[in-house]
Order: sequence, then C-alpha cells, then structure tokens
Amino acid sequence: MKKSIILFTLGFAFLGIILQSCTEKTGSSDEEKVAKEMEKDSTANVEKQDPQKVIIQNMHDAYKGETTAHFKYAAYSKKAAEEGHPEIALLFKAASGAELIHANNHKVILMRMRESIPEITPEFTVKSTTENLKEAIDGESYEYNKMYPEFIKNANTAGDYMAQISLTYAYKVEKKHRDFYIAALASLEAGTDKSLAKIYYLCPTCGNTYATTAPSRCEISMTDSKLFIKVDKL
Ligand SMILES: [Fe+2]
Ligand SMILES: [Fe+2]
Repeated sequence: MKKSIILFTLGFAFLGIILQSCTEKTGSSDEEKVAKEMEKDSTANVEKQDPQKVIIQNMHDAYKGETTAHFKYAAYSKKAAEEGHPEIALLFKAASGAELIHANNHKVILMRMRESIPEITPEFTVKSTTENLKEAIDGESYEYNKMYPEFIKNANTAGDYMAQISLTYAYKVEKKHRDFYIAALASLEAGTDKSLAKIYYLCPTCGNTYATTAPSRCEISMTDSKLFIKVDKL
C-alpha cells in the first residue's frame, strides 16, 4: 500500500515536471512568436518608411548639386570669357541656366514633400578653362552614370512619380552636357573652339540644352520650342 502511494506520488511529481516543462516550452515558443511578429512588423514599417526617407535625402542632395552646378558653371563661363574662349563661355552659360531649371524642379518636389528649402552655399574652385572643362565632365559623368540612376531607382521604390520625373529630366540632360563638354575640351585642345556653337536653346521644363538649332518640341519633355530660352549672349 505504502509502495503504491510512493509510486503514485512520484508519478504525480513526474507528471508535474513534464507539464511545467511543456508550459515553459509553450511560453517560450509564444514569446518567440510574439518577438518574431514584432520584428516582422518593425521590418515592415522600416520597409514602408525608409524608401520615403531615402528619396527625401536624395532630393536634398540633387537640389544642392544642381544649385552648386548653376553657380559653378556661371563662374566657369566668366573664366572662359576672360581667357578668350567666348564659345566655351556661352556653353557654360547655357548649362548654368539648365542647372537652375533642374534645381527649381527639385525644389518643387521638396516643397511637395513639405520639406524646408535650405540655403545652399555653393563650394567649388575656378581653375583654367581646360581644368574647368575636365571637372565639369567628371561632375556630369558622376551624375549621369551613378547619382541619378540610383536616385531614380529610389524614387521608383518610394512610388514617388513626380520625383522620378524631375530626376529623369536632369539625368537625361546631364548626358548632353557631358557630351558638349567633351567636344568643347577636344576643340580647345585642338585650337578650334571658335567653331563651337554660338547659340543655345534651353527647354524651360526639363533644362534640355540644344546647340545651334532646336526641334519644334523638346525631345525629353515635349515642350513647345516657342517657350525655349535662347542663349546667344554672354
Ligand atoms: Fe543638372
Ligand atoms: Fe549638367
């Protein structure tokens, strides 16, 4: 009788240990589940929030870059004129105007994002026209090959169609600027820069830059050429 009581007690205790272990296991599993759910929610939030934060920062960077380019090319234009290269000065002046159009487009996007527009202090160095052209080629190449493709991708991820348009306008025009600068540098080195274009047209919508003649509508934004800005004087 005593033996059966002892066995019963031991069995009961053993069952208690098993149940406790199961409860702990279940508790732990539930906690893990909750933690995983929380992590999932937080990841989902980050995924929801981050693309927006990224594109806002991209638009600030693009706005700063375009504003700086606007002032930099204006200074390069002055330097080219001083060095006796009026055609290259005119190219820099036209590109400076295009960069201002890009900066203004990006500014509109930032305002639409309810961002405050910072005061930009442009930082650049004016050297010889040859060096300035090389620097301009590097700057445009970076924007065309790396910066804008990334920003456009980020705008797409964030689902910001307007930002994507503004960035794409600039992206396409920077390629044209780079090509103009490459041709200008070659002409300068060959001593034939007098043969460069003496008139440019700017599309006020996207900053597209045309040398000598312009199509009836902008090839990027479809804007009527009647609205184009003529750049033929320094
Ligand atoms: Fe630009
Ligand atoms: Fe440019």
